[in-house]
Amino acid sequence: MTFKIPSLCAALIMVITHVHGQNYEAQVDALMQRMTLEERIGQTVMYGGGWDKTGPTINTEFEKHIADGNTGAMLNVYTAKGTRALQKIAVEQTRLGIPLLFGYDVIHGHRTIFPINLALSCSWDLGMVEQSSRIAAEEASAEGLHWTFAPMVDVARDPRWGRISEGAGEDVFLGSAIAKAYVKGFQGNDLSANNTILACAKHYVAYGAAQAGRDYHTVNMSENELRNVYLPPFKATIDANVQTFMSAFNELNGVPTSGNKFTLRDILKDEWKFKGFVVSDYTSINEMIMHGFAKDSLESAKIGMNAGVDMDMMGEVYRKYLKQLITEGKVDEAAVNDACRRILLTKFKLGLFDDPYRYSDETRQKETIYKPEFLETARHIAAASSVLLKNDNEALPLSKDQTFALIGPLAKDEYHINGNWGGAGDRDGKSVSIYEGLLEYVSDKAIFYSKGCDIESEDQSGFKAAIETAKKADVVLLVMGESYHMSGEAASRTNLKIPGVQPELIQAIREAIPNKKIILVLMNGRPLNISEEKEEVNAILEAWYPGTMGGLAVADLLFGKENPSAKLTATFPRNVGQVPIYYNMKNTGRPIPKNNPKEDYKSNYIDSPNTPLYPFGFGLSYTTFTYSDFKISAKTIGFNETLKVSATISNTGNYDGQEIVQLYLHDKVGSVTRPVKELKGFEKIFLKKGERKVVTFEISTEDLKFYNAEMLYGVEPGEFEIAIAPSSDFEFEHMFELKK
Ligand code: GLC
Repeated sequence: MTFKIPSLCAALIMVITHVHGQNYEAQVDALMQRMTLEERIGQTVMYGGGWDKTGPTINTEFEKHIADGNTGAMLNVYTAKGTRALQKIAVEQTRLGIPLLFGYDVIHGHRTIFPINLALSCSWDLGMVEQSSRIAAEEASAEGLHWTFAPMVDVARDPRWGRISEGAGEDVFLGSAIAKAYVKGFQGNDLSANNTILACAKHYVAYGAAQAGRDYHTVNMSENELRNVYLPPFKATIDANVQTFMSAFNELNGVPTSGNKFTLRDILKDEWKFKGFVVSDYTSINEMIMHGFAKDSLESAKIGMNAGVDMDMMGEVYRKYLKQLITEGKVDEAAVNDACRRILLTKFKLGLFDDPYRYSDETRQKETIYKPEFLETARHIAAASSVLLKNDNEALPLSKDQTFALIGPLAKDEYHINGNWGGAGDRDGKSVSIYEGLLEYVSDKAIFYSKGCDIESEDQSGFKAAIETAKKADVVLLVMGESYHMSGEAASRTNLKIPGVQPELIQAIREAIPNKKIILVLMNGRPLNISEEKEEVNAILEAWYPGTMGGLAVADLLFGKENPSAKLTATFPRNVGQVPIYYNMKNTGRPIPKNNPKEDYKSNYIDSPNTPLYPFGFGLSYTTFTYSDFKISAKTIGFNETLKVSATISNTGNYDGQEIVQLYLHDKVGSVTRPVKELKGFEKIFLKKGERKVVTFEISTEDLKFYNAEMLYGVEPGEFEIAIAPSSDFEFEHMFELKK
């Protein structure tokens, strides 16, 4: 027998990994040997602390659980001072001094708040995604946090669902790439460094497919849909070495996802070999009682642990019942040991056993929070995340030597501007309103302000003053949208209109000044039905909730310092009746003929076009780009060959700018029906005015794989259509054949 001697490099890696890996595993095993059953159960328990602006209000009830060794992690406790106080109890008052994990929702920034995640996804800039989460990790770790409950990687195709604001929109490919970038930003390359934190892929799984867009609602889908659409972004986080997962609130095909052995053990822990740990969502284990899946708390604890949820967030059922369940033989002690081991392993990886207080450093906290370079980066990222939806006759950018009527309930706002899940971001003082942003460009004497109306009330008493204000100025800037409470968790809507009487105000102003330039800036957490407003204004900038530096970013865009480059990652419907609507639906057996949209007995509505108001991948720039000279390297490829396609992108306008070039495929025939289009590549390029560039994509059979009806992941020979395009709104003109 000959032994294959690995190369020196591989041998070196093996030795390092072995020593390093064995070090943690051996240390965990050694610690586990010394732990009582109660102490091992204690690691599976997470409690939440209160918090305030200066730091957590340490709730004495939790101090007792910590001191009793009944707590492995704390939620919603931060600042160096607050985490040090609780860590001291765990380290000094418990028998073994096992340090706590401190976790918090650092979703789009910690103190420096970036645009909401749906906005950031519209930048299609993976570097920015990673940079924003890297900065978030710097600030969060400087305030004693070890762990964020992010990224949220739920594919979302229903804007009625408020949590569409937290993710990367409707597409699997883009969502998977963005998921990886978040994990890399949060976890960095070395978890033992004190500026990296654990990431958490959530909400596992298919939470975004809630019926009727109603939060926490039932999810029913085939395993085929689950594997082709909703699982891939989670798998992408595994490939990026994510250390934790969060099980979700929803049921999936009749089984709550926080008690779902198929998704948690069979797929996540067995098929994907996930070695991190799974935390439940907030009391989602207990909620299996309400789901009608557990008859009481005792049974919910049994189901949760047996299904593979390793830590109970705020439910208290693990602390109260696991020992009894083990005694009664309803839970195998090995399951609790595995859960405890997974949790301890992450604590070793973070270096908490070397120094439990390494993240609770007040000096580092003062030096890190709101660093000028963090704020400057947030300003630039916010500009790159705002989508220019309309710009008739180059209404934008604005010139400074004009007067402006600034109207709308969000025009001077510095509260909603951080959006939902604004974390520890300062909601009164640090954030820059759009009004303040404009003052960077024009004097306050050039700005006439009128609120006009509230965000949600029916009160129109402010209309008259607003109309008078509009008449006085050269240009009208409307800043309207949703309150940040209208998206995010438990914030589903049945209609997608701009709320309150804001639409009526827009209409009243347009009627009063029929020929004046009106710019609409939107602040909202979901795609809205702006079908009517679109006809009443000259330009629309979708700013979403742009975060701490949002006002400056919007002003930078309005006055042309920044050229809009973002493109939609979630479809804007014409009306809520079209929902769910997304670019890569199935063709059906009766698609609408392109040349006769009104043909009878086709899959269309009798009262609305099928097409969206604004499609996935759409966004304007102040310049224009043309696509030409499409080239394809072959008409036929074999299974182990690659295909190259390219196109020439030209900047044909008057501004330098960035363009997000997109690659789409259509698998024309499959053993299961395939979407009419699938994003399979994208590249963001910068072109000076007049400049052109050839953009090339390479396609391999790996890019053509999907799960078939037997849940086998593979590629099938046949014809594929292919296109390089500026958005998903195009007709295919080219194709190739894949041959065995
Ligand atoms: C919430 C959310 C989840 C969050 C957790 C902790 O209910 O569903 O996204 O991370 O509780 O705040």
